[in-house]
Amino acid sequence: MNRLQNKVAIVTGAAGLLGLAGVRAMAREGAQVVMMDLSPTVHERAQELTGSGYDVSAYVGDVSSEKDMSGVVEHAKKTYGRLDIIWNNAGIMGAGWLEQDTDVVNTTQQHLLRTLEVNVSSVFLGSKFAIPVMLEGGGGSIINTSSIQGANGDTALISYGTSKAAIDYVTKAVATAYGHLGIRSNAVAPGLIPPPVDPTGPEWASGVAPQDLLRDSQLLDSQGRPEDIANIVVFLASDEAKFITGELIRVDGGLTAHLPTLSDRRKLAKA
Ligand SMILES: NC(=O)c1ccc[n+]([C@@H]2O[C@H](COP(=O)([O-])OP(=O)(O)OC[C@H]3O[C@@H](n4cnc5c(N)ncnc54)[C@H](O)[C@@H]3O)[C@@H](O)[C@H]2O)c1
Repeated sequence: MNRLQNKVAIVTGAAGLLGLAGVRAMAREGAQVVMMDLSPTVHERAQELTGSGYDVSAYVGDVSSEKDMSGVVEHAKKTYGRLDIIWNNAGIMGAGWLEQDTDVVNTTQQHLLRTLEVNVSSVFLGSKFAIPVMLEGGGGSIINTSSIQGANGDTALISYGTSKAAIDYVTKAVATAYGHLGIRSNAVAPGLIPPPVDPTGPEWASGVAPQDLLRDSQLLDSQGRPEDIANIVVFLASDEAKFITGELIRVDGGLTAHLPTLSDRRKLAKA
């Protein structure tokens, strides 16, 4: 408790699955949080948290817009007087991603560019506008949401994977340029953190849920939860992580920690 006392944070994508869990965890640790999201439902989420006694405020805006990202930083400064933490978390796979974000031949440039605009520009702009205000307070912690999808090749999700690999670079570049001034920049790479299951969703068209597809390659038997990501984000935001910068922390149950032969070996062992 109180690990983020007297700290002011911005969380983007704050109305979504991971963002909301992170806001709750940060607020529980004493942070004052600006919740930014494109969706106006962020107002209701903020009201619920305020009703529970947390000090949060909502800001509706688009993370790919320079005006909105500079606006949310200004809002944090005006409302709370400082800025210590920004979690650049909002991200998209893009509408119709399952059909549209496939391989390099079959994905449109338009899809690629829109994905980069939201997923990468947001991290670029969030860092760009937050750093000067953080420096007024002596430093700060930037956390970006990457993904295991950015780490290795795949037959699908070329736009999304490219965007997440770019986030890893921006994370390190910011850490490199501003570490000596007290700015830390780290990323968290979730594995699959499933939302409440919608059995009619397109992911189920094959009859296999994505989490079941990955189960053979995950090292831990449990399923990832939004709180698993929120806990790492709180840690990176807090002074407990004051000697950590330029890091990408995978939170994926060991999904990407082993050789690709693992699931074959497991099948052989079962046979
Ligand atoms: N859930 C997972 O399994 C998983 C795995 C790896 C990485 N991630 C990453 O975690 C982050 C959060 O994902 P999630 O699972 O919570 O998704 P989500 O869809 O539940 O939440 C994303 C939120 O971002 C908001 N958003 C989308 N575009 C925006 C924009 N242009 N401006 C402002 N807000 C915008 C949405 O309204 C939504 O509330 C994303 O960056 C995603 O790529 C998620």
